[in-house]
Amino acid sequence: MAILKILQYPDERLHKVARSVENVDESIRSLVRDMAETMYAAQGVGLAATQVDVHKRVIVMDVSESHDQLRVFINPEIISKIGEEECEEGCLSVPGIYETVRRAANVTVRALNENGETITLEADGLLAVCIQHEMDHLLGKVFVEYLSQLKQTRIRSKLKKRLRETM
Ligand code: NI
Repeated sequence: MAILKILQYPDERLHKVARSVENVDESIRSLVRDMAETMYAAQGVGLAATQVDVHKRVIVMDVSESHDQLRVFINPEIISKIGEEECEEGCLSVPGIYETVRRAANVTVRALNENGETITLEADGLLAVCIQHEMDHLLGKVFVEYLSQLKQTRIRSKLKKRLRETM
């Protein structure tokens, strides 16, 4: 296993659109293991392959308090959305920034797991937020893009400044 480098907003590669996985093979399972290790090491609740510069439709997630309930979504599709809810979100690619985003309150997602089996999951609360947030990454969208242009500009300059300071 390996800890992968997480792209930091506003890296252009975060805007690439991921491709579907054709075969859930050993290379995908290896990617899933590395992504899970990377997510746990960074103390995140979700990570999309896009964030580690792999442009395949793969997501890992663990919203449990015990950090032992890894969920894997390969080629996820939302098959139903109900209601609306606002939630404060953060992202491993946008460190230190937390902003409120409005999303569907309840989603049903269909995906493949790491064994290539189809899973269907109905989610609400943090899990629903996380699924939608990570699926956005696969489409090249970062959560700050839901905010006003002014806020986005402020966040970009703040993060660029911080990046200069740490180099
Ligand atoms: Ni994120």
